Amino acid sequence: MDPRLSRFGRFLFPLALLLLHGSVLFQVRALDVEVRDEDNKTCLYAKMMVNISIKYETEANTYKTVAFMLPTALRYDGSTCGNESSGPILAVEFGEEHSWVISFAEKADAYQGMIYFTYNTNDTEVFPDAKRIGLITISTNYPQQPIKLNTVYSCRSMEAIQSDNVVQEIWDVTLQAFLDEGSQSNIETVCDQDIVVTTASPAPMSPRVYAATDTTKETPTTPEPPLPPLPTLVPVEQPATGSYSLHNNSGACLLATMGLQLNISQKVPLIINFNPNTTVASGSCGDQMSVLTLTDGRSRVDFVFTVKNTTIERFSLTEVNITVIESRNVTLNAANRSLEAWVASVGSSYMCRKEETLTVTPGYKMNIFDLKVQPFDVKDSQYATAEDCRPEVDNFFVPIMVGAALAGLIFLVLMAYVFGRQARQVGYEHF
Ligand SMILES: *[C@@H]1O[C@H](CO)[C@@H](O)[C@H](O)[C@H]1NC(C)=O
Ligand SMILES: *[C@@H]1O[C@H](CO)[C@@H](O)[C@H](O)[C@H]1NC(C)=O
Ligand SMILES: *[C@@H]1O[C@H](CO)[C@@H](O)[C@H](O)[C@H]1NC(C)=O
Ligand SMILES: *[C@@H]1O[C@H](CO)[C@@H](O)[C@H](O)[C@H]1NC(C)=O
Ligand SMILES: *[C@@H]1O[C@H](CO)[C@@H](O)[C@H](O)[C@H]1NC(C)=O
Ligand SMILES: *[C@@H]1O[C@H](CO)[C@@H](O)[C@H](O)[C@H]1NC(C)=O
Ligand SMILES: *[C@@H]1O[C@H](CO)[C@@H](O)[C@H](O)[C@H]1NC(C)=O
Ligand SMILES: *[C@@H]1O[C@H](CO)[C@@H](O)[C@H](O)[C@H]1NC(C)=O
Ligand SMILES: *[C@@H]1O[C@H](CO)[C@@H](O)[C@H](O)[C@H]1NC(C)=O
Repeated sequence: MDPRLSRFGRFLFPLALLLLHGSVLFQVRALDVEVRDEDNKTCLYAKMMVNISIKYETEANTYKTVAFMLPTALRYDGSTCGNESSGPILAVEFGEEHSWVISFAEKADAYQGMIYFTYNTNDTEVFPDAKRIGLITISTNYPQQPIKLNTVYSCRSMEAIQSDNVVQEIWDVTLQAFLDEGSQSNIETVCDQDIVVTTASPAPMSPRVYAATDTTKETPTTPEPPLPPLPTLVPVEQPATGSYSLHNNSGACLLATMGLQLNISQKVPLIINFNPNTTVASGSCGDQMSVLTLTDGRSRVDFVFTVKNTTIERFSLTEVNITVIESRNVTLNAANRSLEAWVASVGSSYMCRKEETLTVTPGYKMNIFDLKVQPFDVKDSQYATAEDCRPEVDNFFVPIMVGAALAGLIFLVLMAYVFGRQARQVGYEHF
């Protein structure tokens, strides 16, 4: 029995109960932990590989870099499911007062972690020639973007996060905080890198073990979990309409509402409905160009809006890029950079209630429902007046108004006739 498993026995008593899952290999090479509350319900699940490199100042006033993976001997004191005012925390301590802590917070319908990494330059084993400074803490958001609540964050690609003198490389991540009733969600939020980097999975690394005494050199290759095939079932139902927005420091800067369906007929026909509940919006706002990226699991669409510099400034959708990860080594992708759709003047929004099919390339089409979009000049997080895709819709009002006016006129004539006759009858009685 791994000695650490029995060591976890003591977590049965305090509020935080930690269990290690997976093989001994995993326990050695990667973080793979659950934090449980006193009712034995999981509040945080995290499996990830972490590599840390630290640049430090030496006694000779030069800089050196030391790199290591999270070592085998970890202590988890301080891990907790949190309370009213604070979310779950996974605290990992190792060596001489080094600690790596990730603390999660919930905001709106998303959650995000903050990593606090503290290293001790007084530890001569790691920093033999460092200027003796003591504890240094750096902090960084992880992941960079908040994760939708009740979804599992998944990122196989390596992400390098730099913060002062520390670079943390994190990969092979599966994590979820704020689990609903302690059970892991089966909906994934896949990181951008996994969607962009399509073929390459991070090369298995030979872990350099932090403790100098450990010289085991066998390289475990973490097996790639197979990617389930995309459903080839054609969804018959219309996609649900989702509302998305991008923000800058002065509030919402891009608003978009739509139901989005991909129709990829390149090989096997593939219809993909974007589910607003699991779709994440990202992108950027600019004066002349704004980009909205909608990502739902393995499907991603980039919408590029640009402003045309004519007398009346008009924006339009000029570029669309569709990417669908079909399997580990097959990615469906098509882009068109010479589109001219959804045109409206800057300062207004563009609206289209009817279903619209946008052909990106002959094999890649998008069906858009209930569209409303404003990529520029958003004020007070509200849509401005909309320019409709079908001004002829307004023309229906003309016959309706003419008809209504005619009906009113006929009614008036009739009333005049009836009252006229009554008045005449009353007159006859008097004489
Ligand atoms: C908590 O749950 C785990 C697995 O679900 C189980 O092995 C363990 O015995 C449980 N502990 C308690 C105290 O119920
Ligand atoms: C909640 O937990 C945090 C972090 O563990 C702790 O600092 C704080 O004192 C706790 N607050 C309450 C009200 O228990
Ligand atoms: C489309 O998006 C993919 C994934 O982000 C990217 O690799 C590719 O370069 C993009 N293509 C175009 C034409 O922008
Ligand atoms: C990450 O760790 C692996 C194994 O120790 C090592 O090969 C790699 O160079 C490290 N990367 C950095 C930036 O330190
Ligand atoms: C998808 O595209 C194909 C080929 O263009 C077309 O025949 C089919 O009707 C489309 N399906 C939907 C649901 O738009
Ligand atoms: C989105 O979530 C809501 C509430 O949880 C649910 O009613 C709705 O059916 C979900 N929509 C889809 C498309 O799954
Ligand atoms: C747009 O046109 C105006 C007048 O023609 C010019 O002053 C301005 O620099 C142009 N802006 C861009 C971004 O080209
Ligand atoms: C995709 O990858 C699998 C294993 O990773 C391999 O067996 C298969 O031949 C690859 N397919 C293509 C088309 O490269
Ligand atoms: C891009 O869209 C334009 C306008 O719909 C079309 O004329 C052009 O053929 C498309 N390009 C490709 C590569 O399909």
